[in-house]
Amino acid sequence: MSFYVTTPIYYVNAQPHLGHAYTSIAADVMARHMRQRGEDVFFLTGTDEHGEPVALAAERLGVTPRELADTNAARFEALMPRLNVSNDFFIRTSDPRHVARVQEVMQRIHDNGHTYLGTYEGWYCPRCADFRTENEIAEGNTCPIHHIPLLREQEENWFFRLSTFQEPLERLFAERPDFVGPPARYNEALAFLRSGLRDVSLSRGKFTWGVPVTWDPSHVFYVWFDALLNYYTALGFAREGEDLTDRFWPPTYHLIGKDILKFHAVYWPAILMAAGLDLPQREYVHGYLLLDGEKMSKSLGNVLDPFEVMERFGTDALRYYCFREVSFGQDGSVSTTGFEARYESELANDYGNLASRTLAMVARYRDGHVPEVATDAALAADFAGLEAEVAELLDRAELSQALEAIWVRVRRLNRYVEERAPWRLARDPDGAERLDETLASLLEGLRVVTVLLHPYMPATVEKLLDALGQPSLAYAGTSFADHGWSGTVAPIEPLFPKR
Ligand code: MSP
Repeated sequence: MSFYVTTPIYYVNAQPHLGHAYTSIAADVMARHMRQRGEDVFFLTGTDEHGEPVALAAERLGVTPRELADTNAARFEALMPRLNVSNDFFIRTSDPRHVARVQEVMQRIHDNGHTYLGTYEGWYCPRCADFRTENEIAEGNTCPIHHIPLLREQEENWFFRLSTFQEPLERLFAERPDFVGPPARYNEALAFLRSGLRDVSLSRGKFTWGVPVTWDPSHVFYVWFDALLNYYTALGFAREGEDLTDRFWPPTYHLIGKDILKFHAVYWPAILMAAGLDLPQREYVHGYLLLDGEKMSKSLGNVLDPFEVMERFGTDALRYYCFREVSFGQDGSVSTTGFEARYESELANDYGNLASRTLAMVARYRDGHVPEVATDAALAADFAGLEAEVAELLDRAELSQALEAIWVRVRRLNRYVEERAPWRLARDPDGAERLDETLASLLEGLRVVTVLLHPYMPATVEKLLDALGQPSLAYAGTSFADHGWSGTVAPIEPLFPKR
């Protein structure tokens, strides 16, 4: 089956921060997990380069929008391999191939009668590049996200007849309760929908940094239309000489932050209906990473630099931390002390130490040979159904719950070491059989949790699988399969050394 997962495309008005890394890592966990399951995966991320926020930021810096876009898009693109994110393509909306395909789809929407020329007046946030409805305005006519004064704007725009999609969208929400998750976000989108849809601007006449409207080139498309369409356009040119649209459209999962729910859950399906395209299967909305209680964001200036964090703790530690400290789907605070604590107690102690001592004991007591005996049935019972449980949770994008399910078993294995006390068995003249069973069971348990941890911590897992004499998971394939033991295992250096 095909599995197409996307992240939002990131604004290039600023450099990447941990909030951006977060969604990309989340999508990567899902993509890697699905590849392990043998699915045909396409994973897209990229940058949103047009529109007023970028034009304004460029102006402030005294560079052209294109120069700013080139500089920052390169930073986002470089972040992905650094995070060990395995995206299949990186789309830039300034790519002429994207531009051409946006024009093609928008022209179709125009031809289908879903547009008209009108005058818009309303409160506008230049940072959000969004007009605010009355109930989206904070005190003193300010933007609730950016805390800056909203502008009263009036302009002649092309409009998209969003209001005519009221009923089809209500039907969509009624028929597909899993269209948006988690359920609280589904309800939020539904409430917005039920408050009554109004037509929205589709073009802007005041700016030139965008995709020209084909039927009225004095306008450019409002950036959100251009941006949302990336999910569709990319499939047309991601592979030289090949069109992937039939193979991967519609998307299986859009992962987004809660700030852009309205655009994805309401505008986007309407745009696709207007263009006669199939709708995405699911959207999953995660919360904010907070620093000092506020959303981490460039405009608020409270950002954690993911490059710095990885420098100190390593890429896998960052990937792991994101889904442990904050339950995926909810808001939560991150901090350097939080990193240090989990690095020490969970990565170094729970998992790293389990791996080191298991391998060290097999080396010491059995010369590195894997005992060829049956594993402990009581311990195996605690692992029964784990793979299916993790798969089911990741099907619903429950990244923290899936990780917790695995971690419960990591801790179970540590308790097993204490219960069995292999060092005592090794001194007991009648303990050989029980020691064999203990070591074989620990190795098998370690193999299982490690294979399941692959999407979260791919580099660490590769290292450990190598020591366990197991095949690499770097490539797609029947990766959950039990490949058996190769006979010997090798001791390893600590996976998460003291910092
Ligand atoms: N360009 C638009 C998205 C267009 S998608 C068709 C945009 N870009 S953004 O760079 O401002 O934010 C994109 C995404 O980054 C958010 O939806 C969210 O996924 C992620 N995050 C940015 N800051 C974040 C936090 N502080 N915490 C968690 N994720 C956040 O909106």
